[in-house]
Amino acid sequence: MQEKILILDFGSQFTQLIARRVRELNIYCEIHPFNKVPEVDQSVKGIILSGSPYSVRQDDAPHFEFIKHHKTLPILGVCYGAQYIAHFHGGEVLASSTREYGRANLDFVKQDNPLFKDVPTGSQVWMSHADTIARIAGDFEIIASTDSVKVAAYQITGTQTYGIQFHPEVTHSTDGKQLLQNFLVDICHCTQDWTPDSFIETTIAELKAKLGDDKVVLGLSGGVDSSVAAVLLHQAIGKNLHCIFVDNGLLRKDEYQSVLDSYQHMGLNIKGIDAKQRFYDALAGVSDPEKKRKAIGRVFIEVFDDAAHEVQGVSWLGQGTIYPDVIESVSVKGPSATIKSHHNVGGLPDFMKLKVVEPLNTLFKDEVRRVGKALGIDPNILGRHPFPGPGLAIRILGDVTPEKVEILQQADAIYINNLRSGGVYDKVWQAGAIYLPVQSVGVMGDERTYENVICLRAVESLDGMTADWCHLPYDLLAKISNEIINNVKGINRVVYDISSKPPATIEWE
Ligand code: XMP
Repeated sequence: MQEKILILDFGSQFTQLIARRVRELNIYCEIHPFNKVPEVDQSVKGIILSGSPYSVRQDDAPHFEFIKHHKTLPILGVCYGAQYIAHFHGGEVLASSTREYGRANLDFVKQDNPLFKDVPTGSQVWMSHADTIARIAGDFEIIASTDSVKVAAYQITGTQTYGIQFHPEVTHSTDGKQLLQNFLVDICHCTQDWTPDSFIETTIAELKAKLGDDKVVLGLSGGVDSSVAAVLLHQAIGKNLHCIFVDNGLLRKDEYQSVLDSYQHMGLNIKGIDAKQRFYDALAGVSDPEKKRKAIGRVFIEVFDDAAHEVQGVSWLGQGTIYPDVIESVSVKGPSATIKSHHNVGGLPDFMKLKVVEPLNTLFKDEVRRVGKALGIDPNILGRHPFPGPGLAIRILGDVTPEKVEILQQADAIYINNLRSGGVYDKVWQAGAIYLPVQSVGVMGDERTYENVICLRAVESLDGMTADWCHLPYDLLAKISNEIINNVKGINRVVYDISSKPPATIEWE
Protein backbone atom coordinates (compact mmCIF):
# COMPACT_ATOMS: atom_id res chain seq x y z
CA MET A 1 0.00 0.00 0.00
CA GLN A 2 1.37 3.39 -1.02
CA GLU A 3 1.93 5.36 2.18
CA LYS A 4 0.90 8.98 2.05
CA ILE A 5 0.48 12.30 3.78
CA LEU A 6 -2.84 14.12 3.50
CA ILE A 7 -2.69 17.87 3.03
CA LEU A 8 -5.98 19.53 3.85
CA ASP A 9 -6.46 22.71 1.91
CA PHE A 10 -8.14 25.65 3.60
CA GLY A 11 -7.58 27.87 0.57
CA SER A 12 -4.01 29.10 1.03
CA GLN A 13 -2.03 30.12 -2.02
CA PHE A 14 0.83 28.02 -0.60
CA THR A 15 -0.95 24.65 -0.36
CA GLN A 16 0.53 23.28 -3.57
CA LEU A 17 3.94 24.43 -2.44
CA ILE A 18 3.61 22.34 0.73
CA ALA A 19 2.84 19.33 -1.47
CA ARG A 20 5.86 20.04 -3.65
CA ARG A 21 8.13 20.17 -0.61
CA VAL A 22 6.76 16.91 0.78
CA ARG A 23 7.31 15.19 -2.54
CA GLU A 24 10.83 16.59 -2.85
CA LEU A 25 11.52 14.44 0.20
CA ASN A 26 10.36 11.42 -1.84
CA ILE A 27 7.16 11.13 0.14
CA TYR A 28 3.82 10.84 -1.64
CA CYS A 29 1.09 13.27 -0.58
CA GLU A 30 -2.36 14.30 -1.71
CA ILE A 31 -4.16 17.62 -1.43
CA HIS A 32 -7.84 17.51 -0.49
CA PRO A 33 -10.29 20.31 0.27
CA PHE A 34 -10.84 20.64 4.05
CA ASN A 35 -14.50 19.70 3.62
CA LYS A 36 -13.92 16.60 1.48
CA VAL A 37 -11.49 14.59 3.54
CA PRO A 38 -11.12 11.06 2.15
CA GLU A 39 -11.26 8.03 4.38
CA VAL A 40 -8.21 7.97 6.61
CA ASP A 41 -6.89 4.42 6.36
CA GLN A 42 -3.60 2.76 7.28
CA SER A 43 -1.81 4.28 4.31
CA VAL A 44 -2.12 7.77 5.83
CA LYS A 45 0.94 8.53 7.94
CA GLY A 46 0.10 12.08 8.91
CA ILE A 47 -2.00 15.15 8.15
CA ILE A 48 -0.92 18.69 7.34
CA LEU A 49 -3.44 21.53 7.68
CA SER A 50 -2.73 24.40 5.30
CA GLY A 51 -3.05 28.13 5.75
CA SER A 52 -6.10 30.09 4.67
CA PRO A 53 -7.21 33.59 3.73
CA TYR A 54 -9.92 33.20 6.40
CA SER A 55 -9.65 34.07 10.06
CA VAL A 56 -10.78 31.46 12.61
CA ARG A 57 -12.86 34.25 14.11
CA GLN A 58 -15.03 34.59 11.02
CA ASP A 59 -18.45 32.91 11.07
CA ASP A 60 -17.80 31.18 7.77
CA ALA A 61 -14.30 30.01 8.73
CA PRO A 62 -13.53 26.57 7.28
CA HIS A 63 -13.85 23.69 9.75
CA PHE A 64 -12.27 20.28 10.02
CA GLU A 65 -12.95 17.66 12.67
CA PHE A 66 -9.38 17.41 13.78
CA ILE A 67 -10.42 15.94 17.09
CA LYS A 68 -11.14 12.66 15.28
CA HIS A 69 -7.49 12.22 14.39
CA HIS A 70 -5.35 14.14 16.78
CA LYS A 71 -4.74 11.32 19.19
CA THR A 72 -4.10 8.70 16.53
CA LEU A 73 -2.13 10.45 13.81
CA PRO A 74 0.60 13.08 13.65
CA ILE A 75 -0.89 16.44 12.66
CA LEU A 76 0.92 19.61 11.64
CA GLY A 77 -1.10 22.82 11.44
CA VAL A 78 0.50 25.58 9.38
CA CYS A 79 -0.58 29.21 9.94
CA TYR A 80 -4.41 29.05 9.80
CA GLY A 81 -4.08 25.33 10.55
CA ALA A 82 -2.16 26.16 13.74
CA GLN A 83 -4.61 28.90 14.72
CA TYR A 84 -7.54 26.61 14.05
CA ILE A 85 -6.28 23.92 16.41
CA ALA A 86 -5.35 26.48 19.07
CA HIS A 87 -8.69 28.29 18.83
CA PHE A 88 -10.93 25.24 18.91
CA HIS A 89 -8.89 23.53 21.57
CA GLY A 90 -9.28 25.93 24.42
CA GLY A 91 -7.08 28.81 23.33
CA GLU A 92 -7.75 32.20 21.85
CA VAL A 93 -6.87 33.75 18.51
CA LEU A 94 -7.03 37.53 18.13
CA ALA A 95 -6.28 40.03 15.41
CA SER A 96 -2.66 40.99 15.89
CA SER A 97 -1.97 44.65 16.48
CA THR A 98 0.32 44.70 13.45
CA ARG A 99 -0.01 42.40 10.48
CA GLU A 100 2.91 39.97 10.57
CA TYR A 101 4.29 39.67 7.10
CA GLY A 102 7.78 38.75 5.96
CA ARG A 103 10.97 37.55 7.57
CA ALA A 104 11.36 36.94 11.29
CA ASN A 105 13.79 34.97 13.43
CA LEU A 106 13.12 32.31 16.01
CA ASP A 107 14.76 33.67 19.13
CA PHE A 108 13.53 30.74 21.19
CA VAL A 109 13.62 27.15 19.95
CA LYS A 110 13.00 24.13 22.18
CA GLN A 111 16.01 22.21 20.96
CA ASP A 112 14.98 18.80 22.24
CA ASN A 113 11.57 18.86 20.54
CA PRO A 114 11.63 16.42 17.60
CA LEU A 115 10.00 18.99 15.29
CA PHE A 116 12.98 21.32 15.77
CA LYS A 117 15.80 18.78 15.49
CA ASP A 118 18.74 20.57 13.79
CA VAL A 119 16.82 23.85 13.57
CA PRO A 120 19.04 26.44 15.29
CA THR A 121 17.97 29.34 17.48
CA GLY A 122 17.91 32.43 15.26
CA SER A 123 16.62 30.47 12.27
CA GLN A 124 14.85 32.71 9.75
CA VAL A 125 11.17 32.01 9.15
CA TRP A 126 8.54 33.54 6.85
CA MET A 127 5.39 34.90 8.45
CA SER A 128 2.20 35.87 6.66
CA HIS A 129 -0.72 36.37 9.02
CA ALA A 130 -3.11 38.95 10.37
CA ASP A 131 -4.23 36.92 13.41
CA THR A 132 -2.13 35.74 16.28
CA ILE A 133 -2.48 33.00 18.89
CA ALA A 134 -2.99 35.09 22.03
CA ARG A 135 -3.65 32.32 24.54
CA ILE A 136 -3.12 28.57 24.54
CA ALA A 137 -4.82 25.85 26.54
CA GLY A 138 -3.04 24.23 29.50
CA ASP A 139 -1.90 21.14 27.62
CA PHE A 140 -0.14 23.19 24.92
CA GLU A 141 3.58 23.71 25.10
CA ILE A 142 5.29 26.57 23.26
CA ILE A 143 8.24 25.16 21.32
CA ALA A 144 9.38 28.23 19.37
CA SER A 145 8.92 32.02 19.51
CA THR A 146 10.01 35.15 17.69
CA ASP A 147 10.35 38.48 19.46
CA SER A 148 6.84 39.53 18.43
CA VAL A 149 5.09 36.15 18.08
CA LYS A 150 5.26 34.22 21.32
CA VAL A 151 3.39 31.19 20.03
CA ALA A 152 5.37 30.69 16.82
CA ALA A 153 5.16 26.90 17.31
CA TYR A 154 3.50 24.57 19.80
CA GLN A 155 2.91 20.91 20.58
CA ILE A 156 -0.10 19.52 22.38
CA THR A 157 1.63 17.54 25.09
CA GLY A 158 1.20 13.81 24.98
CA THR A 159 0.11 13.91 21.34
CA GLN A 160 1.77 14.19 17.96
CA THR A 161 -0.15 17.39 17.18
CA TYR A 162 1.94 20.43 16.29
CA GLY A 163 1.19 23.92 15.08
CA ILE A 164 3.49 26.46 13.45
CA GLN A 165 2.61 30.06 12.75
CA PHE A 166 5.19 30.48 9.97
CA HIS A 167 5.41 28.91 6.51
CA PRO A 168 8.07 26.16 6.31
CA GLU A 169 7.28 25.55 2.62
CA VAL A 170 8.64 28.86 1.31
CA THR A 171 12.36 29.13 0.71
CA HIS A 172 12.65 32.25 2.90
CA SER A 173 12.15 29.91 5.88
CA THR A 174 15.74 28.76 5.81
CA ASP A 175 15.23 25.60 7.87
CA GLY A 176 11.71 24.92 6.61
CA LYS A 177 12.77 21.84 4.72
CA GLN A 178 14.52 20.44 7.80
CA LEU A 179 11.40 21.07 9.86
CA LEU A 180 9.17 19.32 7.33
CA GLN A 181 11.60 16.44 7.17
CA ASN A 182 11.55 16.18 10.98
CA PHE A 183 7.77 16.01 10.93
CA LEU A 184 7.50 13.60 8.02
CA VAL A 185 10.38 11.25 8.76
CA ASP A 186 10.91 11.36 12.53
CA ILE A 187 7.33 11.99 13.63
CA CYS A 188 5.21 10.40 10.87
CA HIS A 189 7.81 7.68 10.10
CA CYS A 190 7.47 8.01 6.34
CA THR A 191 9.97 5.85 4.45
CA GLN A 192 10.94 8.27 1.62
CA ASP A 193 10.72 5.65 -1.09
CA TRP A 194 8.51 7.53 -3.55
CA THR A 195 10.91 8.11 -6.46
CA PRO A 196 10.49 8.34 -10.25
CA ASP A 197 11.54 4.68 -10.52
CA SER A 198 9.09 3.51 -7.89
CA PHE A 199 6.35 5.61 -9.51
CA ILE A 200 7.08 4.01 -12.89
CA GLU A 201 7.09 0.50 -11.44
CA THR A 202 3.79 0.88 -9.57
CA THR A 203 2.08 2.79 -12.37
CA ILE A 204 2.97 0.21 -14.99
CA ALA A 205 1.72 -2.58 -12.74
CA GLU A 206 -1.53 -0.68 -12.11
CA LEU A 207 -2.01 0.05 -15.80
CA LYS A 208 -1.48 -3.61 -16.67
CA ALA A 209 -4.04 -4.69 -14.09
CA LYS A 210 -6.54 -2.03 -15.13
CA LEU A 211 -6.25 -2.38 -18.90
CA GLY A 212 -5.52 -6.07 -19.42
CA ASP A 213 -5.83 -6.72 -23.16
CA ASP A 214 -7.91 -3.59 -23.81
CA LYS A 215 -6.94 -1.08 -26.47
CA VAL A 216 -6.17 2.56 -25.68
CA VAL A 217 -6.14 5.48 -28.07
CA LEU A 218 -4.12 8.59 -27.18
CA GLY A 219 -3.56 11.92 -28.90
CA LEU A 220 0.08 13.01 -28.86
CA SER A 221 0.96 16.69 -29.09
CA GLY A 222 4.74 16.62 -29.04
CA GLY A 223 4.62 18.08 -25.52
CA VAL A 224 6.03 16.63 -22.33
CA ASP A 225 2.85 15.36 -20.70
CA SER A 226 1.32 13.40 -23.56
CA SER A 227 4.75 11.95 -24.44
CA VAL A 228 5.42 10.68 -20.91
CA ALA A 229 1.86 9.32 -20.64
CA ALA A 230 2.34 7.50 -23.95
CA VAL A 231 5.63 5.90 -22.94
CA LEU A 232 4.20 4.68 -19.63
CA LEU A 233 1.17 3.20 -21.38
CA HIS A 234 3.38 1.70 -24.04
CA GLN A 235 5.50 -0.03 -21.42
CA ALA A 236 2.35 -1.39 -19.81
CA ILE A 237 0.35 -2.55 -22.85
CA GLY A 238 2.71 -2.33 -25.86
CA LYS A 239 1.01 -2.41 -29.25
CA ASN A 240 -2.44 -2.09 -27.69
CA LEU A 241 -1.64 1.59 -27.32
CA HIS A 242 -2.60 3.45 -30.49
CA CYS A 243 -1.20 6.97 -30.67
CA ILE A 244 -2.49 9.65 -32.99
CA PHE A 245 -0.50 12.76 -33.91
CA VAL A 246 -2.40 15.37 -35.91
CA ASP A 247 -0.70 17.92 -38.14
CA ASN A 248 -3.04 20.88 -37.79
CA GLY A 249 -0.83 23.09 -39.96
CA LEU A 250 -0.26 25.32 -36.95
CA LEU A 251 2.84 23.64 -35.53
CA ARG A 252 6.34 25.08 -35.53
CA LYS A 253 8.50 24.74 -38.64
CA ASP A 254 9.35 21.07 -39.42
CA GLU A 255 7.94 20.04 -36.07
CA TYR A 256 5.45 17.53 -37.37
CA GLN A 257 8.09 15.38 -39.05
CA SER A 258 10.72 15.66 -36.35
CA VAL A 259 8.31 14.85 -33.54
CA LEU A 260 6.83 11.96 -35.51
CA ASP A 261 10.33 10.60 -36.11
CA SER A 262 11.29 10.77 -32.46
CA TYR A 263 8.07 9.01 -31.42
CA GLN A 264 8.73 6.28 -33.95
CA HIS A 265 12.24 5.89 -32.57
CA MET A 266 10.75 5.33 -29.16
CA GLY A 267 8.89 2.38 -30.62
CA LEU A 268 5.44 3.90 -30.19
CA ASN A 269 2.61 2.63 -32.33
CA ILE A 270 1.78 5.98 -33.87
CA LYS A 271 -0.27 7.25 -36.75
CA GLY A 272 0.42 10.71 -38.17
CA ILE A 273 -2.47 12.50 -39.84
CA ASP A 274 -2.00 15.41 -42.20
CA ALA A 275 -5.12 17.49 -41.62
CA LYS A 276 -3.62 20.90 -42.40
CA GLN A 277 -6.18 21.82 -45.04
CA ARG A 278 -9.17 20.98 -42.83
CA PHE A 279 -7.87 23.39 -40.19
CA TYR A 280 -7.04 26.15 -42.69
CA ASP A 281 -10.53 25.83 -44.21
CA ALA A 282 -12.17 26.12 -40.80
CA LEU A 283 -10.05 29.15 -39.93
CA ALA A 284 -10.55 31.05 -43.18
CA GLY A 285 -11.78 34.57 -42.43
CA VAL A 286 -12.00 34.01 -38.64
CA SER A 287 -10.20 36.69 -36.61
CA ASP A 288 -11.76 36.50 -33.17
CA PRO A 289 -9.38 34.58 -30.84
CA GLU A 290 -12.09 32.59 -29.09
CA LYS A 291 -13.74 31.67 -32.40
CA LYS A 292 -10.38 30.49 -33.68
CA ARG A 293 -9.89 28.32 -30.60
CA LYS A 294 -13.37 26.86 -30.97
CA ALA A 295 -12.90 26.14 -34.68
CA ILE A 296 -9.57 24.42 -34.01
CA GLY A 297 -11.04 22.43 -31.11
CA ARG A 298 -13.96 21.29 -33.24
CA VAL A 299 -11.85 20.17 -36.20
CA PHE A 300 -9.40 18.43 -33.88
CA ILE A 301 -12.22 16.40 -32.37
CA GLU A 302 -13.53 15.46 -35.83
CA VAL A 303 -10.10 14.41 -37.07
CA PHE A 304 -9.26 12.57 -33.87
CA ASP A 305 -12.60 10.83 -33.77
CA ASP A 306 -12.24 9.61 -37.37
CA ALA A 307 -8.78 8.26 -36.58
CA ALA A 308 -9.92 6.64 -33.32
CA HIS A 309 -12.75 4.84 -35.12
CA GLU A 310 -10.18 3.17 -37.33
CA VAL A 311 -8.80 1.37 -34.29
CA GLN A 312 -11.01 -1.68 -33.96
CA GLY A 313 -12.43 -2.41 -30.51
CA VAL A 314 -10.82 0.47 -28.63
CA SER A 315 -12.32 1.09 -25.20
CA TRP A 316 -10.05 3.63 -23.49
CA LEU A 317 -8.91 7.17 -24.14
CA GLY A 318 -5.46 7.94 -22.73
CA GLN A 319 -4.75 11.48 -21.58
CA GLY A 320 -1.71 13.32 -20.25
CA THR A 321 -3.67 15.22 -17.57
CA ILE A 322 -1.42 16.28 -14.68
CA TYR A 323 -2.08 16.92 -10.98
CA PRO A 324 -2.62 20.72 -11.03
CA ASP A 325 -5.51 20.13 -13.50
CA VAL A 326 -7.31 17.79 -11.10
CA ILE A 327 -6.66 19.30 -7.69
CA GLU A 328 -10.01 20.50 -6.51
CA SER A 329 -9.28 23.99 -5.34
CA VAL A 330 -11.02 25.55 -2.38
CA SER A 331 -13.03 28.37 -3.81
CA VAL A 332 -12.41 31.37 -1.61
CA LYS A 333 -13.82 34.18 -3.66
CA GLY A 334 -16.11 32.21 -5.95
CA PRO A 335 -15.20 30.64 -9.26
CA SER A 336 -12.68 32.73 -11.16
CA ALA A 337 -13.85 34.33 -14.38
CA THR A 338 -13.01 32.62 -17.64
CA ILE A 339 -10.19 34.63 -19.15
CA LYS A 340 -9.51 32.36 -22.12
CA SER A 341 -11.31 29.17 -23.04
CA HIS A 342 -8.26 26.99 -22.98
CA HIS A 343 -5.99 24.58 -21.18
CA ASN A 344 -7.46 21.41 -22.54
CA VAL A 345 -9.82 21.05 -19.60
CA GLY A 346 -13.09 19.43 -20.52
CA GLY A 347 -11.42 16.87 -22.75
CA LEU A 348 -13.23 15.25 -25.60
CA PRO A 349 -16.99 15.09 -25.97
CA ASP A 350 -19.15 12.28 -24.68
CA PHE A 351 -19.91 10.83 -28.05
CA MET A 352 -16.57 9.13 -28.03
CA LYS A 353 -17.93 6.95 -25.22
CA LEU A 354 -14.50 5.87 -24.05
CA LYS A 355 -13.29 5.29 -20.53
CA VAL A 356 -10.46 7.63 -19.57
CA VAL A 357 -7.03 6.57 -18.32
CA GLU A 358 -4.69 9.29 -17.01
CA PRO A 359 -1.42 7.85 -15.72
CA LEU A 360 0.05 11.24 -14.72
CA ASN A 361 -2.86 12.70 -12.83
CA THR A 362 -1.02 12.58 -9.51
CA LEU A 363 2.14 14.35 -10.72
CA PHE A 364 3.29 17.96 -10.87
CA LYS A 365 4.99 19.15 -14.07
CA ASP A 366 8.55 18.87 -12.75
CA GLU A 367 7.78 15.34 -11.54
CA VAL A 368 6.49 14.43 -15.01
CA ARG A 369 9.84 15.59 -16.41
CA ARG A 370 11.74 13.49 -13.85
CA VAL A 371 9.64 10.43 -14.67
CA GLY A 372 10.23 11.12 -18.38
CA LYS A 373 13.97 11.25 -17.75
CA ALA A 374 13.87 7.98 -15.83
CA LEU A 375 11.96 6.45 -18.76
CA GLY A 376 14.78 7.53 -21.08
CA ILE A 377 12.68 9.95 -23.15
CA ASP A 378 14.60 12.28 -25.50
CA PRO A 379 15.73 15.38 -23.53
CA ASN A 380 14.62 17.50 -26.49
CA ILE A 381 11.04 16.45 -25.87
CA LEU A 382 11.29 16.75 -22.07
CA GLY A 383 12.85 20.22 -22.16
CA ARG A 384 10.49 21.76 -24.69
CA HIS A 385 8.80 25.04 -23.93
CA PRO A 386 5.04 24.81 -23.45
CA PHE A 387 3.19 25.32 -26.71
CA PRO A 388 -0.55 26.08 -26.89
CA GLY A 389 -2.95 23.55 -28.41
CA PRO A 390 -4.22 26.07 -31.02
CA GLY A 391 -0.58 26.61 -31.97
CA LEU A 392 0.47 29.43 -34.24
CA ALA A 393 -3.17 30.37 -34.89
CA ILE A 394 -3.19 32.37 -31.64
CA ARG A 395 0.19 33.90 -32.49
CA ILE A 396 -1.12 35.33 -35.76
CA LEU A 397 -3.30 38.24 -34.78
CA GLY A 398 -6.41 38.46 -36.88
CA ASP A 399 -7.27 35.93 -39.55
CA VAL A 400 -5.00 32.98 -40.32
CA THR A 401 -3.80 32.03 -43.81
CA PRO A 402 -1.27 29.36 -44.85
CA GLU A 403 1.00 32.20 -46.11
CA LYS A 404 1.03 33.93 -42.74
CA VAL A 405 1.68 30.60 -41.01
CA GLU A 406 4.70 30.06 -43.22
CA ILE A 407 6.13 33.52 -42.53
CA LEU A 408 5.64 33.03 -38.80
CA GLN A 409 7.18 29.54 -38.90
CA GLN A 410 10.31 30.93 -40.54
CA ALA A 411 10.67 33.82 -38.10
CA ASP A 412 9.92 31.58 -35.10
CA ALA A 413 12.49 28.99 -36.22
CA ILE A 414 15.19 31.68 -36.47
CA TYR A 415 14.23 32.91 -33.02
CA ILE A 416 14.18 29.52 -31.32
CA ASN A 417 17.36 28.28 -33.03
CA ASN A 418 19.17 31.38 -31.82
CA LEU A 419 17.90 30.89 -28.28
CA ARG A 420 19.32 27.36 -28.43
CA SER A 421 22.67 28.30 -29.98
CA GLY A 422 22.95 31.29 -27.62
CA GLY A 423 22.59 28.90 -24.67
CA VAL A 424 19.47 30.57 -23.24
CA TYR A 425 16.67 28.25 -24.41
CA ASP A 426 16.62 26.25 -21.17
CA LYS A 427 16.62 29.38 -19.02
CA VAL A 428 13.46 30.66 -20.69
CA TRP A 429 10.15 29.20 -19.61
CA GLN A 430 8.38 29.87 -22.90
CA ALA A 431 9.27 31.76 -26.06
CA GLY A 432 7.68 32.32 -29.43
CA ALA A 433 7.28 34.78 -32.26
CA ILE A 434 4.03 36.60 -32.96
CA TYR A 435 2.85 37.83 -36.34
CA LEU A 436 1.31 41.29 -36.20
CA PRO A 437 -1.00 42.25 -39.04
CA VAL A 438 0.36 45.78 -38.96
CA GLN A 439 2.34 47.22 -41.81
CA SER A 440 5.08 49.74 -41.35
CA VAL A 441 7.49 51.53 -43.64
CA GLY A 442 11.07 50.40 -44.03
CA VAL A 443 13.93 50.71 -46.46
CA MET A 444 15.90 47.87 -48.03
CA GLY A 445 18.69 48.88 -50.39
CA ASP A 446 17.22 51.78 -52.34
CA GLU A 447 13.68 50.50 -52.03
CA ARG A 448 10.95 51.62 -49.72
CA THR A 449 9.17 48.66 -48.11
CA TYR A 450 5.76 48.45 -46.49
CA GLU A 451 5.62 45.13 -44.64
CA ASN A 452 4.56 43.33 -41.50
CA VAL A 453 5.94 43.21 -37.96
CA ILE A 454 7.18 40.22 -35.97
CA CYS A 455 7.10 40.48 -32.20
CA LEU A 456 9.34 38.29 -30.04
CA ARG A 457 8.06 37.08 -26.66
CA ALA A 458 10.12 35.27 -24.01
CA VAL A 459 8.97 34.84 -20.43
CA GLU A 460 10.15 33.45 -17.14
CA SER A 461 7.50 31.66 -15.13
CA LEU A 462 6.91 28.70 -12.83
CA ASP A 463 3.51 27.58 -13.99
CA GLY A 464 2.25 30.07 -16.57
CA MET A 465 -0.10 31.68 -14.05
CA THR A 466 2.18 34.68 -13.63
CA ALA A 467 5.16 35.53 -15.80
CA ASP A 468 7.80 38.16 -16.35
CA TRP A 469 9.51 39.05 -19.60
CA CYS A 470 13.06 37.75 -19.96
CA HIS A 471 15.95 40.15 -20.10
CA LEU A 472 17.51 38.54 -23.16
CA PRO A 473 20.98 39.85 -24.07
CA TYR A 474 20.84 42.80 -26.50
CA ASP A 475 23.43 41.17 -28.77
CA LEU A 476 21.27 38.11 -29.14
CA LEU A 477 18.15 40.19 -29.85
CA ALA A 478 20.09 42.16 -32.46
CA LYS A 479 21.26 38.98 -34.17
CA ILE A 480 17.75 37.51 -34.22
CA SER A 481 16.23 40.71 -35.56
CA ASN A 482 18.81 40.94 -38.36
CA GLU A 483 18.35 37.35 -39.36
CA ILE A 484 14.58 37.60 -39.44
CA ILE A 485 14.50 40.83 -41.45
CA ASN A 486 17.14 39.61 -43.89
CA ASN A 487 15.65 36.17 -44.43
CA VAL A 488 11.90 36.30 -43.98
CA LYS A 489 10.14 37.85 -46.91
CA GLY A 490 7.26 40.05 -45.83
CA ILE A 491 8.83 41.22 -42.53
CA ASN A 492 10.72 44.51 -42.21
CA ARG A 493 10.46 45.17 -38.47
CA VAL A 494 11.02 43.13 -35.28
CA VAL A 495 9.96 44.24 -31.80
CA TYR A 496 10.39 42.70 -28.32
CA ASP A 497 7.50 42.34 -25.87
CA ILE A 498 8.35 43.75 -22.42
CA SER A 499 5.02 43.10 -20.68
CA SER A 500 4.60 40.96 -17.60
CA LYS A 501 1.61 38.76 -16.74
CA PRO A 502 -0.53 40.13 -15.22
CA PRO A 503 -1.70 42.40 -16.70
CA ALA A 504 -0.64 41.06 -20.13
CA THR A 505 -1.05 37.35 -20.90
CA ILE A 506 1.74 35.20 -22.30
CA GLU A 507 0.00 34.64 -25.63
CA TRP A 508 -1.24 37.67 -27.51
CA GLU A 509 -4.62 36.12 -28.17
P1 XMP B 1 -1.79 32.90 -21.23
O1 XMP B 1 -1.75 33.43 -22.63
O2 XMP B 1 -3.18 32.67 -20.72
O3 XMP B 1 -1.12 31.47 -21.30
O4 XMP B 1 -0.96 33.74 -20.29
C1 XMP B 1 -0.71 30.70 -20.21
C2 XMP B 1 -0.17 29.39 -20.76
O5 XMP B 1 -1.23 28.67 -21.42
C3 XMP B 1 -0.92 28.47 -22.78
N1 XMP B 1 -2.14 28.64 -23.55
C4 XMP B 1 -2.85 27.62 -24.08
N2 XMP B 1 -2.64 26.29 -24.05
N3 XMP B 1 -4.60 25.97 -25.35
C5 XMP B 1 -3.52 25.48 -24.71
O6 XMP B 1 -3.33 24.25 -24.74
C6 XMP B 1 -4.87 27.30 -25.41
O7 XMP B 1 -5.86 27.73 -26.00
C7 XMP B 1 -3.93 28.17 -24.74
N4 XMP B 1 -3.87 29.53 -24.59
C8 XMP B 1 -2.75 29.78 -23.86
C9 XMP B 1 0.14 29.49 -23.11
O8 XMP B 1 0.94 29.08 -24.22
C10 XMP B 1 0.91 29.57 -21.82
O9 XMP B 1 1.81 28.48 -21.69
